[in-house]
Amino acid sequence: MQAKKMKAIVATGYGSPAVLQLQDVNTPTIKSNEVLVKIHATTVTKADTMMRTGTPYFGRLFTGLRTPKHPIPGTGFAGVVEAVGNQVSSLVVGDAVFGETTLGFSTNAEFVAVPENGVILKKPDSISYTEAAAFTDGHLTSYNFLKEIAQVKPGQKVLINGASGSLGTAAVQLAKYFGAEVTAVCSTRNIGLVKSLGAHHIIDYTKQDFTTTGQTYDVIYDTLGKRSFKECKKVLTEKGQYISPVLQFPLLFQMLWTSRFGRKKAKFAATGLRSDRELREMLQEVIRIVTAGHLKTVIDRQYPLEKVAEAHTYVDAGHKKGNVIINVQP
Ligand SMILES: NC(=O)c1ccc[n+]([C@@H]2O[C@H](COP(=O)([O-])OP(=O)(O)OC[C@H]3O[C@@H](n4cnc5c(N)ncnc54)[C@H](OP(=O)(O)O)[C@@H]3O)[C@@H](O)[C@H]2O)c1
Repeated sequence: MQAKKMKAIVATGYGSPAVLQLQDVNTPTIKSNEVLVKIHATTVTKADTMMRTGTPYFGRLFTGLRTPKHPIPGTGFAGVVEAVGNQVSSLVVGDAVFGETTLGFSTNAEFVAVPENGVILKKPDSISYTEAAAFTDGHLTSYNFLKEIAQVKPGQKVLINGASGSLGTAAVQLAKYFGAEVTAVCSTRNIGLVKSLGAHHIIDYTKQDFTTTGQTYDVIYDTLGKRSFKECKKVLTEKGQYISPVLQFPLLFQMLWTSRFGRKKAKFAATGLRSDRELREMLQEVIRIVTAGHLKTVIDRQYPLEKVAEAHTYVDAGHKKGNVIINVQP
């Protein structure tokens, strides 16, 4: 019997957005422990653009040395369960779900197969597919960094550098929700957006350098890795923490060093490498915070599936506000 076909974006190699092509490929066949999700919405994230270029190069040890091991890009998804394997008990056909495939990628497509015990959760009716598809990028990552890694406490002073991006827009709101006094760093054109998210103080990075204002912070969350631990150290409080989701060798070294010496700490983590169970638990918390009205999902541009390459070009430029969504179902 001929396999059913679906539309998907296929990366024909590592490189510019031109490597991403819309193709007809086989619809995934599910194993007994998997569900087939008909995708309504997926995303193009900054991390997806790094996967596309295959940089930093050591990342190719995981993603494929010469060409991507998983040629269909994308990790975030929201959609409806289309079929279930015969051992699946917690999900049924017709359930609205969302989640992420982490190192399995493959979500810039009409369908994806996901293990029942993978990062997949039921989507509350009050949350749209468009919003839910974005949860596993900024919301999940910033929750991990602020709550789990920095353990932000009420009354602490937290500075978010890169406050208008996917991680930043979530971080401003989450830090405020955790009771911190939030300083957001963004450019002039994003001041209105960042203010609307509840930042207590705003620093326009085109006019002022936050490391020279004389203010100190308990936590500096550098969402874009634009400033180093060394530069930020002087504006950290005595036991302050510099946390960044951007992998750079000096930061890894500083993390190792400060874990043993000195009171000020530097920290990096790869959220997607946490266990599926931990990711699901954090996402449950994210859903709770969103449905309680404390965390909005900032959505910038939306594209249809066939325009994923265009979406990559936009994300590459580095000026997106919040999240970029791919609507797979029109
Ligand atoms: N480790 C992990 O677990 C993990 C997970 C997910 C993502 N990440 C990484 O996290 C990073 C951030 O991703 P993202 O999606 O939040 O980025 P993004 O949305 O692409 O960031 C774009 C935003 O950054 C602002 N910006 C640019 N230069 C700036 C500067 N010098 N200072 C302050 N703001 C600046 C831009 O505003 P203007 O144009 O107005 O300046 C724009 O709004 C990426 O490197 C991604 O790979 C890591």
